[in-house]
Amino acid sequence: MKKPTIYITRKIPEELLEPYKEQCNFTMWHKEDTPVPKDILYEEVKHADGLICLITEKIDAAFLDHAAHLSVIANMAVGYDNIDIAKAKEHGIVVTNTPDVLTETTADLTFSLLMATARRIVEAASYIKEDKWGDWAPFMLAGTDIHSKTIGIVGMGRIGEAVGKRAKGFGMDILYHNRTRHESLEKKLDATYVPFQTLLTEADFVVSLVPLTEETEELFNEAAFRKMKSSAIFINASRGGVVDEQALYEALRNGYIHAAGLDVFKEEPINSSHPLNQLSNVTLLPHIGSASVQTREKMIQLCLDNVSRVCHEQKAVTPVE
Ligand code: NAP
Ligand code: GLV
Repeated sequence: MKKPTIYITRKIPEELLEPYKEQCNFTMWHKEDTPVPKDILYEEVKHADGLICLITEKIDAAFLDHAAHLSVIANMAVGYDNIDIAKAKEHGIVVTNTPDVLTETTADLTFSLLMATARRIVEAASYIKEDKWGDWAPFMLAGTDIHSKTIGIVGMGRIGEAVGKRAKGFGMDILYHNRTRHESLEKKLDATYVPFQTLLTEADFVVSLVPLTEETEELFNEAAFRKMKSSAIFINASRGGVVDEQALYEALRNGYIHAAGLDVFKEEPINSSHPLNQLSNVTLLPHIGSASVQTREKMIQLCLDNVSRVCHEQKAVTPVE
């Protein structure tokens, strides 16, 4: 059998490819920090059997019509809203993602972002860097407690559950909302299933971990922010598209909610001129949920396993079904 050809849309470490080189030929874009230009990607996939891509690549109907000969597309992410799954299925292309390997790392970051936002960690660190520390004062940089508060997790899936475990360790009450109830999880975490509207009104911390779908697009809109407590802190570690960012901006500016911590945005990357960055009650991160070296290596390995298996007529390890 001829060795299949795999195109990779970013530069990844050669040593991770090494164990797969007997099974596949690899070509990759030569830059680690810049996406492959669309015309080059279109040209490269003409000759490829498999593709390893990132969430920065829009795998839409036009791309899939052009690359219908691909056997497999391995997305280096658990979320796959950048891919037209129905169209890929129509062409018989297997799509894979990277669940589980990033769960704990993303939960670490989500909970860190919650803590950083509540306790104003980024702002406090800048006090020393920018020589703003004057005399100690009773309410200097005073934030919000985390322990004993109520967390509301919207999207209690793999990462939601891992965030719930951390919240339980902090003595928080846990509310969650999904389309389906998980009674065994409720027992394990002492969590309570509530309708979305109840979660919004009762939680001190509203944490979004839902995938971006037609159903969740702008789920967090003006009505949702107006339902939240004026002391509530909103954390988004899923996708920017689940938030109406203009409504969030107004909610933060007008005090409908207290603060927000965001790892994801509707259009990425953002820069310092983004409207949300003009507010003092936000903590913004550049989409680093799964960004630990160990986890990124595991995600790459899982992508390599998936493409190699499908190209050799075996079932993918983590197909999107
Ligand atoms: P998961 O296990 O599939 O969990 C998603 C949860 O959302 C499920 O429990 C699902 O439950 C719920 N859900 C789906 N649609 C819903 C809806 N319309 N209303 C309410 N709940 C809904 O996925 P995961 O591995 O935890 O990942 C979650 C998301 O996190 C990914 O899709 C990705 O967008 C994001 N993510 C971000 C980063 C980052 O770097 N910031 C890293 C990794 C992942 P039901 O089906 O029962 O509703
Ligand atoms: C990252 O955002 C992912 O979905 O894995």
